Amino acid sequence: MTVVIESVSALRAQVQAWRADGLKVALVPTMGALHEGHISLTRAALDRADRCVASIFVNPRQFAPTEDLDKYPRQLAFDLDKLEQAGVHAAFTPGVDEVYPEGFATTISVGGPSAGLETDFRPTHFDGVATVVAKLLIQAAPDLAVFGEKDYQQLCVVKKLCRDLNLPVEIFGAPTVRDPEGLAMSSRNAYLSPAELEVARKLNKILRKAATALEGGADEAATMTAARQEILDAGFDTVDYVEARQTDTLAPWRRDTSGRVLVAARLGKTRLIDNVEVTAR
Ligand code: PAF
Repeated sequence: MTVVIESVSALRAQVQAWRADGLKVALVPTMGALHEGHISLTRAALDRADRCVASIFVNPRQFAPTEDLDKYPRQLAFDLDKLEQAGVHAAFTPGVDEVYPEGFATTISVGGPSAGLETDFRPTHFDGVATVVAKLLIQAAPDLAVFGEKDYQQLCVVKKLCRDLNLPVEIFGAPTVRDPEGLAMSSRNAYLSPAELEVARKLNKILRKAATALEGGADEAATMTAARQEILDAGFDTVDYVEARQTDTLAPWRRDTSGRVLVAARLGKTRLIDNVEVTAR
């Protein structure tokens, strides 16, 4: 039975009670619209902890005024049902006023891995993410929190936030869940038409080809230029970025250390992101 918790005080009381019983508690922060990718995060949490809390909160502070906050899918009853089936012990579903009471005036801004990539196109996004994630981690005080590698820059920003603020929580990055053709699961896939879905499915193959080329010694700039052109040729309208970076720090890529190729590309009204690993030579 998934207990639904709406207030910070009730969340604290529940987690403290579990911890007093010697149970390890994991938090899976989400914005709802749950799909197989989110459920894999709860599975990773339940593999590593005795109790799992999933939060469902569409965080207004990580959307720019021009972005899709109002049309972001909201389906609480469906989400709670999925969490119940997944064996999640509690769902934290606060209202906006519970998270940002009147007069709220604090923003957390993480440097390092938030530079470039998403920030070049969504300049305030990670301030919104870092602020809400810091609040959730302080409110729930879990032993462990699970984030998806799909949002790889977000994962690096959250790890840096926890290190820099000495938050006593382990962050686990769970692998991306993909459909059989490699498309990363995302709430935004719901916006794609059948024809766009076919195009979207080509993105991961192009990234993997670029990663393999880098691993084989190909020139970085030429590989990224070729990947950008292949994404456009596949049918995407624009490519915000396709770049190789180092793992974790997201510093400029170096061949002798492990890295990632990260992409954001637009297809119709939908913006998709993805990333793949590049192993060191
Ligand atoms: O990845 C998301 O769904 C969100 O950015 C998060 C981590 C739940 C913060 O609102």
